[in-house]
Amino acid sequence: MKTILVTGGMGFIGSHVCVSLLEQGLHVIIVDNLCNSNTEVLNRIDQITGKKPLFYPVNLLDEDALSAVFKRHNIDAVIHFAALKAVGESSCIPLSYYYNNITCSLVLFNVMEKYKVFNLVFSSSATVYGEHNPIPYVENYPLSATNPYGRTKVMIEEILQDAARADPRWNISLLRYFNPIGAHPSGLMGEDPNGIPNNLMPFITQVAVGKRDALNVFGGDYPTKDGTGVRDYIHVVDLALGHIKALEKLIASPNNNCVRSNSISAYNLGAGKGYSVLEVVKAFEKASGKKINYVISPRREGDLAEFFADVSKASEELGWKVERSLDDMCEDAWNWQSKNPEGYLS
Ligand code: NAD
Ligand code: WQD
Repeated sequence: MKTILVTGGMGFIGSHVCVSLLEQGLHVIIVDNLCNSNTEVLNRIDQITGKKPLFYPVNLLDEDALSAVFKRHNIDAVIHFAALKAVGESSCIPLSYYYNNITCSLVLFNVMEKYKVFNLVFSSSATVYGEHNPIPYVENYPLSATNPYGRTKVMIEEILQDAARADPRWNISLLRYFNPIGAHPSGLMGEDPNGIPNNLMPFITQVAVGKRDALNVFGGDYPTKDGTGVRDYIHVVDLALGHIKALEKLIASPNNNCVRSNSISAYNLGAGKGYSVLEVVKAFEKASGKKINYVISPRREGDLAEFFADVSKASEELGWKVERSLDDMCEDAWNWQSKNPEGYLS
């Protein structure tokens, strides 16, 4: 049985990927410092899969503690989710973002090298396409970013490109997520943001349960189908299955013999089409039977009018594409929020 180390596995996306890994019969070890998550996630994973992953409450910045995990277990591959991810906050405390995201990645990659673990799936983001590339975004576009969070993703991708160029034992998948929403269909796991949600779907679900009065729709005058921002929303379970496909490809083609040269590859994980904010609101109202009050507000600084993915590379090379619709995303997000109005503390 292969052993997969999942950094940040207690978080929104990581927890769903852990479920998919366990369902594939893989052995899962989570390393997470719980700075944006809760140990209740372990019980929920257990309720869904009948298995509890091994959990180490370790900060990735702590090289000795991380090394001890690698020493104790025979790890076949790493999926690296751990990061701070709030775009707005990253402009207020950029040094904390660079320190946490970049340093913890460097510590991890160095420990992996020391223990000769070269299979890596890295959580990147559509944010690496910056603001000047035409849509749909294609993997070979030049990368840039408009905020410190996004720059940490560009920098880590570049660090990994350099590592792979220098040492062909590295076998790396860079997964660029578009807008992950939704929740596990059981209603046991979902997105549980601290404080006021920054992202659209958790804000909508909190309006639906009465925790917030109204959604501020950021901008009603974009050059889009209805004037509101358009994004490529992807169900978190489809996203999790994309990780399984990427991992299968890495493990099936271990790159340890210095022969292959193309040992690092980026993939867009999105649906390949865009929905406007008002289309999401409407779909959510249909799924939940709740009226979502909204107010058209000024544009949010740094937002783009519209972006979505070209997903042909993931389809051709990984054999992956999304199977869940916007309606599924809304139904599952509502199922999670209505059963857990206070998130994991409900
Ligand atoms: P999340 O905050 O729910 O999960 C991240 C986890 O990492 C948390 O459990 C947190 O406690 C942990 N963590 C952070 N710093 C750590 C450290 N130094 N040591 C150990 N653990 C640490 O976020 P998420 O939405 O699940 O995102 C997972 C990854 O996907 C992140 O890298 C994020 O940048 C990326 N991503 C997310 C989105 C999105 O919209 N959610 C989109 C694109 C990319
Ligand atoms: C979606 C749409 C908003 C909230 C962010 C990061 C990106 C990636 C995914 C990590 C936009 C509008 C939102 C609200 C609104 N994360 N909106 N009212 O900004 O596309 O992407 O998450 O890598 O890097 O930037 O996602 O959910 O914040 O916004 O009108 O209260 O909803 O303007 O059009 P975004 P989002």
